[in-house]
Amino acid sequence: MPHKKLIIAIDGYSSCGKSTVAKALARKLRLNYIDSGAMYRVVTWYFLRNNIPVPLPENLDLTEFDFEKVMNDVDITFKINPETHFSEIYLNGKNLENEIRSMEISENVSHVSAIKSVREKLVALQQKMQHHGGLVMDGRDIGTTVFPNADLKIFMVADPEIRAHRRYSELTAKGVKVTFEEVKRNVEGRDEEDTHRKISPLRKADDAIILDNSHLNFEEQLDFVISEIEKLKFVSRE
Ligand code: DC
Repeated sequence: MPHKKLIIAIDGYSSCGKSTVAKALARKLRLNYIDSGAMYRVVTWYFLRNNIPVPLPENLDLTEFDFEKVMNDVDITFKINPETHFSEIYLNGKNLENEIRSMEISENVSHVSAIKSVREKLVALQQKMQHHGGLVMDGRDIGTTVFPNADLKIFMVADPEIRAHRRYSELTAKGVKVTFEEVKRNVEGRDEEDTHRKISPLRKADDAIILDNSHLNFEEQLDFVISEIEKLKFVSRE
């Protein structure tokens, strides 16, 4: 039986492999999987395609771009891909699941995700997703802000050099032309911005369990999380 209302929050640094673990977990426990980073990436894509400057120049308020209208134009939905059985992200009906993984988006997303109104809109949307059943959500502030009462919170960390190597292999395997140095700079730059922004910075929730996967393979990571789930005396909220 799927755990209807189990909520698992997986936060951590860029390119730690959060989504790989989160997806496998969702599949095993038959929970929905939501990639919250994809939502910030989609808003970034929208800003760049609509000539909203990223980052906003100092002293320039986003309201100058008629922010209400901007975010009203941003309709984010997820639809299950029937082949993979995982949800994919859509902006105003357009599937952007692959397009938002580019370096262009990675280089701009931390600026967009630091904007208060963007976070407010996306956090509200993420919180509504629990009404569709239990879920695994990964991101940066899931355990601290989105679901502070999550049943299980995992905080993933790994050596930055190792993370950059993983990301570089992933991108080059997809045919993206990029150097290792560019990827490393991006990973370290995002760590810096995500941990130092004013609103909901990336930090470990007090009750989160650290998973350092620098030297763990995929099965070892999954076993670790499953063993933590087995420790939960899970009481359905229904
Ligand atoms: O998980 P990711 O690398 O696709 O996330 C892209 C960016 O989105 C990340 O650099 C910070 C931001 N983000 C965030 O601020 N809060 C989240 N819950 C998820 C992602």
